Amino acid sequence: MAIASNLVDKDRLPRHVAIIMDGNGRWAKKRGLPRVAGHKVGLESVRAMVKACTEFGIPYLTLYAFSSENWRRPSSEVGFLMRLLEIYLKRELKELDDNGVRINAIGRLEGLPASARRQLALSRRSTAKNSGLTLTLALNYGGRRDILDGVLLAAKAIAKGKLKAGQLNEEVFSGLLQTGKLPDPDLVIRTSGELRLSNFLLWQSAYAEVFFTSTLWPDFRKPQFIEALKDFSQRERRFGDIAPVKR
Ligand code: FPP
Repeated sequence: MAIASNLVDKDRLPRHVAIIMDGNGRWAKKRGLPRVAGHKVGLESVRAMVKACTEFGIPYLTLYAFSSENWRRPSSEVGFLMRLLEIYLKRELKELDDNGVRINAIGRLEGLPASARRQLALSRRSTAKNSGLTLTLALNYGGRRDILDGVLLAAKAIAKGKLKAGQLNEEVFSGLLQTGKLPDPDLVIRTSGELRLSNFLLWQSAYAEVFFTSTLWPDFRKPQFIEALKDFSQRERRFGDIAPVKR
């Protein structure tokens, strides 16, 4: 069955899409605007992705909204991004809730400003029982840190006798990561022409299909997303096998 645009096969959609939203600053610079203007318009692309995933029935969307390295930016920009997060969660909570979206977050949330943390906790609590799209915001997130924290958890569990070293396999370890309750991403999208993973979901993306586009994040809307989905639907996923594997 085809989806709205008749461009993508609904049976070959990813279950989990993860996006590195890059290029906001360049988008703004090209227009002679301050960098933060790019983030503001980038939020419209976030809205468009949430709407599209809900419409297409894609159950998991993870957005790299703030990396553990982004603190290096000027404090005014960091402050703006934190306020934008709060505004988004405050203003859209009702609509997200009405659409069955479950808000989730990964990353070292304790490092975020208290007001953003409070709003995030409230949004998570009030949408916890929803069964539509799980929207995960990666905030103060770093993939290596996530793996290291998982190793420490495993070590503690082994030391306390709660886990035998021989029981630690890929599945058990995946469950110890911040994404423990999420399936691995099937499709990772990075906008703005950069060809890097930038410390995003390193363990989880082992078998993900990666889609790079030169489109800057504020310009990445439903038509561009459909292009990525179309590309994904045409890929053969072999997971190391010689023939395509359906998961
Ligand atoms: C990367 O572009 C973008 C970010 C670090 C922030 C992403 C944030 C948003 C899209 C808005 C807020 C999102 C939510 C979920 C509330 P860049 O600034 O590095 O662009 P550049 O590489 O062109 O400088």
